[in-house]
Amino acid sequence: MLKIGVLASGRGTNLQAIIDACKNGLVNGRVELVISDNKDAFALERARNNGIEAIHVDAGNKKKHEETMDKILRNAAIELVVGAGYMRVLSPWFIKRWYGKLINIHPALLPSFKGIDAQGQALSYGVKITGCTTHFMDEKPDHGPIILQAAVRVKKNDTRDSLAERVLKVEHQILPRSIDLFEKGRLIIEGRKVNILPGDSWLNRYSYPDVFYSEGY
Ligand code: GRF
Repeated sequence: MLKIGVLASGRGTNLQAIIDACKNGLVNGRVELVISDNKDAFALERARNNGIEAIHVDAGNKKKHEETMDKILRNAAIELVVGAGYMRVLSPWFIKRWYGKLINIHPALLPSFKGIDAQGQALSYGVKITGCTTHFMDEKPDHGPIILQAAVRVKKNDTRDSLAERVLKVEHQILPRSIDLFEKGRLIIEGRKVNILPGDSWLNRYSYPDVFYSEGY
């Protein structure tokens, strides 16, 4: 079973999707611990509610924050670290230590709309299609090799929140699936590209109409 560590700053719906996917057998893994830079993050509450260790690590001092997280993750023998709404930029030091074992979800089709409020950015730019992306984290924010993407239609009457909600539902699919692919050893990083080795698909068991999933889903 894959030992997963999750970094989260907020409400933790992506964390919940991972926990659920592990519980219902979609992913052969267990969330061993959740770390948050925000002591009031609902993600920590979700962890506790699910019998998972919930740890607040103060981020007042970035170096200390990352050293502490690194120590916690190593002591727990974590094999994959997942950024699930973790709202800080990790330093090159941390990234180097975890490169290839550190993934993130972003609520846009990268490289479009990096940074915060990607859904609001997409809506005000006027794109007709947006979506979400999972990727290995590298030293630049929202930049590393892409694992999966899924495209979602922008509707005429969408508000920032209605669009974000639609994208979020799909985040809850591609993030666990990315973890599943990692656990199965199917993700091979080749420079900027991730080669996904052949195997099963979630398309027939866990997909939505009107969503376009990249290869590997
Ligand atoms: C998600 O949209 C994620 O893509 C972004 O922050 C949001 C976190 O949501 N990075 P949640 O905390 O998982 O509910």
